[in-house]
Amino acid sequence: LAKIEIKLADIPEGKSVTFKWRGKPLFIRHRTPDEISTEQSVAVNNLRDPQHDNERVQNPEWLVVLGVCTHLGCVPIANSGDFGGYYCPCHGSHYDASGRIRKGPAPLNLEVPAYTFPTDDTLLVG
Ligand code: FES
Repeated sequence: LAKIEIKLADIPEGKSVTFKWRGKPLFIRHRTPDEISTEQSVAVNNLRDPQHDNERVQNPEWLVVLGVCTHLGCVPIANSGDFGGYYCPCHGSHYDASGRIRKGPAPLNLEVPAYTFPTDDTLLVG
């Protein structure tokens, strides 16, 4: 199966870049210190799909998720919505900067694919 290798130096802090992987959009987000502390401090009990941030990222600086809304599959917009992560304009689902569903009709968090960091500045997805 196809893998994609991404040079992390190409993605500035605060930016979410979209790649295409196995025919789907893939979001790689270089999170800011503020985003990291916000997401790490979210109380998971009341979340629709309860997951702590540290279950969703391997390195807090990097969020790696599929850009496919878990409602009906639209592509969410980065740095948008009420929770500072992603917003799906199709029916109004709001995701946070950990890719967790926070408001709107989507049932699940954005999917985290399998990935590794083969070197300090390389990400390998797939
Ligand atoms: Fe995203 Fe419906 S497809 S909210």
